[in-house]
Amino acid sequence: MEKKNVKPASGKLGVMCVGLGAVATTFITGVLMVRKGLSKPVGSMTQYDKIRVGKGENQKYLPYKEIVPIADLNDIVFGAWDVFPENAYQSAVHCEVLKEKDIESVKDELVRIVPMKAAFDRNFAKRLDGSNVKDAATRWDMVEQLREDIRRFKAENNCERIVVLWAASTEIYVPVCEEVHGTLAALEKAMKADDREHVAPSMCYAYAALAEGAPFIMGAPNTTVDIPAMWEMAEKTKMPIAGKDFKTGQTLVKSGFAPIIGTRCLGLSGWFSTNILGNRDGLVLDEPANFHTKEVSKLSTLESILEPEKQPDLYTDYYHKVRINYYPPRNDNKEGWDNIDIFGWMGYPMQIKINFLCRDSILAAPLCLDLVLLSDLAARAGRYGIQRFLSFFLKSPMHDYTQGEVPVNHLFQQYVMLKNAIREMGGYEADETID
Ligand SMILES: NC(=O)c1ccc[n+]([C@@H]2O[C@H](COP(=O)([O-])OP(=O)(O)OC[C@H]3O[C@@H](n4cnc5c(N)ncnc54)[C@H](O)[C@@H]3O)[C@@H](O)[C@H]2O)c1
Repeated sequence: MEKKNVKPASGKLGVMCVGLGAVATTFITGVLMVRKGLSKPVGSMTQYDKIRVGKGENQKYLPYKEIVPIADLNDIVFGAWDVFPENAYQSAVHCEVLKEKDIESVKDELVRIVPMKAAFDRNFAKRLDGSNVKDAATRWDMVEQLREDIRRFKAENNCERIVVLWAASTEIYVPVCEEVHGTLAALEKAMKADDREHVAPSMCYAYAALAEGAPFIMGAPNTTVDIPAMWEMAEKTKMPIAGKDFKTGQTLVKSGFAPIIGTRCLGLSGWFSTNILGNRDGLVLDEPANFHTKEVSKLSTLESILEPEKQPDLYTDYYHKVRINYYPPRNDNKEGWDNIDIFGWMGYPMQIKINFLCRDSILAAPLCLDLVLLSDLAARAGRYGIQRFLSFFLKSPMHDYTQGEVPVNHLFQQYVMLKNAIREMGGYEADETID
């Protein structure tokens, strides 16, 4: 195959994080430490994984950066917006995810990351009340101010390219409204008319990013870029979009474990997932309207892996329940329990229990890095719109539901999609050989 025309990753890459909380500061601190040789980017596919290219005698396993031009960690410049004015150092200390010795080792760089004023509306996250908020007359005004922020950041830091990553709190559930979200013209009209019900602040960030020629990644379960209007915007600006909701703890386990049940044709009668966590994310999700956004995202995982239409005897009417409980003593150290009721030969019941004592932000940070680097790569490869190959990193992967597309939640199918996209962008043949 011919080598694809992917533009080189030259110059600085600005990574602008919406939200400078636990996930963002863990991600940023890690990258800064790796750059100094003080830590390792464990869990990051772009830094560790090797993909086979070629077949038979010609096969070889190469790290991503030897197949495609991925931005170097040394070329990243971080910026952020947050509702609270604390700089990245203060916020990292406050979040208590990382040890003081780690945070201190890159303190001089972290203190320089001071969040810009947030585009925020308390109606979308009632539990938050910060002072570092833009004064915007309308949603359209919010967009204009954010665009100005991006342009200024890009110029001041001498960046060639920008990626905007949403690592801010989950907003309340915004159901897709055909009248407002159906077309770009309708969305722009609603922004100008200051429709605060249907236009979430996150939509202003996404619109601003795309308008400024930057890919946008939605790390929370918000429906922000999961609407036809934003797909149109991504197409118009030729920019990639990815989302939604980082696939970290319980859903990673679910999308990796459900295939065991499905592949062996065992039956499922119920899957109950619950967890406790005590960080600010947990506090925001304690609000029912915000939890609903997460619930919708988490519930979608099983349906496309264990499909009742394909195996009515095995997967009809299984009971799937997901709970999140705010429990401050655990802070970022989430504990998740899964109880899985399965049945086997002649319908005899069995149970599986999974108890995952994880660290939320430690699992999310490498996903931030991979999503940022691969979205930037996709933009340079001329890919735009929904990036389905990034489903591997996401709990509720985007897909064009207006065209009857279904999401791919199966972890190993997602991995094949990821590898094939990298192969294709590197000018190698895509294939489905297991390795
Ligand atoms: N850690 C995980 O495992 C995981 C997995 C999936 C998704 N997520 C999502 O990632 C997001 C971040 O998680 P976290 O643990 O860092 O939460 P956090 O509460 O520590 O940080 C979020 C930050 O976003 C800020 N914020 C809220 N609205 C904003 C706005 N409109 N503009 C700018 N800043 C805003 C808040 O002030 C806060 O500092 C959450 O939405 C969470 O649901 C996390």
